[in-house]
Amino acid sequence: MENTAIYPGSFDPITLGHADIVERATRLFDHVIIAVAAKPAKGTVFSLEQRIDICSKSLAHLPNISIEGFDNLLVDYASNKKAAVIIRGLRAISDFEYEFQLAGMNRKLAPEIETLFLMPAEKYAYLSSSLVREVSALGGDISEFVHHSAMAALSGKPL
Ligand code: COA
Repeated sequence: MENTAIYPGSFDPITLGHADIVERATRLFDHVIIAVAAKPAKGTVFSLEQRIDICSKSLAHLPNISIEGFDNLLVDYASNKKAAVIIRGLRAISDFEYEFQLAGMNRKLAPEIETLFLMPAEKYAYLSSSLVREVSALGGDISEFVHHSAMAALSGKPL
């Protein structure tokens, strides 16, 4: 049976740090589903369709992935996809508390699903989508942080 993992997030937009995590996950699993949350609590700058489109272009070099939007409970989505693993990235200690809560709640809801944490390359440890949006809106160079499709989408976006 195919070994599938889910990598969920808001991806507003996906950065090279997220892509680094996906690449690591594709070496561990037969198939990785990048699950783009339709309506994350914090809101998004890009529509779901735009976020999926930027993910597709940023990850086009990877064969064993698919990209989908989802709007239900993550563990239900993972069960429907027959995925036993949820991947999350850990960049720094500051991520831990939130990830601890998320993984704990998901384990309570669905004990059969494991959360697996992967660390991105050091050069991406300080990266986040909101910082990239801010740097771009203020005219900074973001070419080392996102795929060129995200740069194009971000150009002209206000803060
Ligand atoms: N590289 C760069 N940035 C990274 C990163 C990496 N490797 N890993 C995380 N980040 C950043 C993101 O850019 C984001 O930064 P931002 O706040 O500046 O945008 C931040 O870390 C966290 O984003 P992300 O990893 O996308 O997670 P999220 O918190 O936006 O997503 C969901 C959370 C979607 C997974 C969660 O809300 C969920 O599961 N929702 C579905 C409904 C549900 O089941 N809810 C109950 C959950 S218990």
